[in-house]
Amino acid sequence: MTEERPVAIALTDITRRFTAGGTLALDGASLTLRAGEVFGIVGRSGAGKSTLIRTVNLLERPDAGRVEVLGQDMLALDDAGLRAARRGMGMVFQHFNLHSRRTVAENIAFPLEIAGMPRDQRRARVAELLPLVGLEAKRDAYPAQLSGGQQQRVGIARALASGPPILLCDEATSALDPETTRDILALIRDLRDRLDLTVLLITHEMAVVKAICDRVAVMEAGRIIEQGRVFDVFTRPEHPTTRSFVAEVIGLGVPAGSLARLPAPRPGSARRLAQVVFTGPHASRPVVSEASRDFGLDLNIVSGRVDEIAGEPFGIMTLAAYGPAPALEAAFDWMRGLGLTVTELDA
Ligand SMILES: Nc1ncnc2c1ncn2[C@@H]1O[C@H](COP(=O)(O)OP(=O)(O)OP(=O)(O)O)[C@@H](O)[C@H]1O
Ligand SMILES: [Mg+2]
Repeated sequence: MTEERPVAIALTDITRRFTAGGTLALDGASLTLRAGEVFGIVGRSGAGKSTLIRTVNLLERPDAGRVEVLGQDMLALDDAGLRAARRGMGMVFQHFNLHSRRTVAENIAFPLEIAGMPRDQRRARVAELLPLVGLEAKRDAYPAQLSGGQQQRVGIARALASGPPILLCDEATSALDPETTRDILALIRDLRDRLDLTVLLITHEMAVVKAICDRVAVMEAGRIIEQGRVFDVFTRPEHPTTRSFVAEVIGLGVPAGSLARLPAPRPGSARRLAQVVFTGPHASRPVVSEASRDFGLDLNIVSGRVDEIAGEPFGIMTLAAYGPAPALEAAFDWMRGLGLTVTELDA
């Protein structure tokens, strides 16, 4: 569905170096967001995520590359044009950045005040925004009187004050507990649906990506090392860094004790440990019994579960497989041929 929508944000070959002779914070990063999608960028600390998101609204100017937002060449804009373009992009931060001596309503109205909107129009706009983020009852409260989740709701309402079609979120939930994180992610998704927002969201947590994103890009050392539909990246991660991120959320830890208790292979036989991810038309095929019968293997299920991403189911299983080495190889190839993802683990 998102494929037919127009491009909302296109970053092309973005390069950024903060200090002469220093390392590249961004090293040829490219990204395309379609209108209406929630796009996640995940990466470890220092990967360049914040620098990349700040490039979208030119809080950071790239040394090289193209920045296009809603069809506009951002780098060609004059100051007035840039101010106007920035009103089309709301930004939400990890630490909320609220004015402590302003009420909720005054914080939300702040960007409108800066933009020169008359007081009565500001009041009307704030009255629209408060129920959108569930804060009607808190309009006159001060930030110190709010929970972290409520403060972030203020941050989101403020970001949406000027009615931008784009929302940029830099670690919007990283200062929140898991339950509040779920609430805020649900709110962002709901706002995307109701306001048809395009959302670019940065996080270091794959759980956030799994909960809310349509597509995801993985960053490392200023580069995008992998990107795609969240379901595809979670079930078929290619880059080792992506694999380790994905393992944090959907991986099956195998307790050392249960590995130690696995029987040793018989003479002439080998033992291989593999994680198998079941997706697509063969997700419910009895692969284990077929492999056991057709390749003459003994298959021991060490762990397994069924999960889903955006309503799309998949299974994940860790198998200890015993048999002649060529038969093991052939069985894994056969599984891969069915479209399953087979990753061998150290046995
Ligand atoms: N203003 C700056 N001056 C100098 N170096 C900077 C500046 N901002 C970022 N960097 C460097 O650029 C690299 C990328 O930083 P960035 O903040 O984009 O990473 P990040 O992925 O957002 O990390 P985190 O998860 O910790 O927020 C890092 O090496 C960082 O030290
Ligand atoms: Mg950052």
